[in-house]
Amino acid sequence: MLRTLALLVAAALVTAAAPAPAARAAGGAERVITDVAFSFEGPFGRYDANQLQRGLQVFTEVCSGCHGLKYVPLRSLGDPGGPGLAAAEVRAYAALLEIEDPATGEFRPRQPTDSFPGSSLENAPDLSLMAKARVGFEGPYGLLVNPFLRGIGGPEYIASLLSHYTGEEKEEAGSLFYGNASFTGGWVAMAPPLSDGQVEFADGAPNDVAAMAEDVAAFLTWAAEPKMMARKQAGLTAVLFLVLLSVLLYLTNKRLWAPHKGGARTGS
Ligand code: HEC
Repeated sequence: MLRTLALLVAAALVTAAAPAPAARAAGGAERVITDVAFSFEGPFGRYDANQLQRGLQVFTEVCSGCHGLKYVPLRSLGDPGGPGLAAAEVRAYAALLEIEDPATGEFRPRQPTDSFPGSSLENAPDLSLMAKARVGFEGPYGLLVNPFLRGIGGPEYIASLLSHYTGEEKEEAGSLFYGNASFTGGWVAMAPPLSDGQVEFADGAPNDVAAMAEDVAAFLTWAAEPKMMARKQAGLTAVLFLVLLSVLLYLTNKRLWAPHKGGARTGS
């Protein structure tokens, strides 16, 4: 019984670990999600502040026309480990966005203590948590294990979604859908938002569709997980502490039992 169980588990692990060519969509069609070597991957990964700033620019100039980030406080743009804007830059950025003050009912510029606005297009989802919501975009047998087995997740999905439009369009029930090789089912209601050279970066970084898609995907990952670096550091500290504790326990154990064991061997 135990042996059968162990064999079954082993078989499941082997099949799950076998490299799948691409994530399979629910309908069985292959979805294209390409791996990107983001700076924040791995135990020592950190966000690249310049990339986050470029991503913020792409979001502001392109995506915010439809999408919101209503759970992201504007002040976090100045937090260390994030895009790292100066306090004055955060204030200036916030002031460009209006908000209806609940106290007075009048419109006023936002302050760093306010959040980003919500989506302005009804059917465009809020992107605050999208990078996390799409982390487990299936995997072998729909097990949602891609992040563990293949090291790809939410940011790769977003970058792929933005750069894998097929160029086809179709109209269904009065709405337009656009062919997209990364979207479940292959048709998405979002028109291709990016085109080569659309956003000019101050640092002269590449601004083809793939590069902008990566930058905005990195920014959205930070938006969904601003404390990722602190979390990784805490994890690393915990592991180091446990290693040290194991060594000390091992030595203590040896020492405690030494008189008895040693005694038995020498026969005294
Ligand atoms: C013209 C409006 C518009 C713009 C501009 C736009 N989007 Fe969208 N987006 C949509 C709509 C509508 C949907 C819903 C699509 C659907 O469910 O078929 C969507 C969906 C998404 C999704 C979710 C896909 C999923 O898996 O459900 C992501 C991620 C996304 N957009 C990212 C972006 C990013 C990043 C940008 C900027 C580069 C952007 N969008 C620009 C309208 C827009």
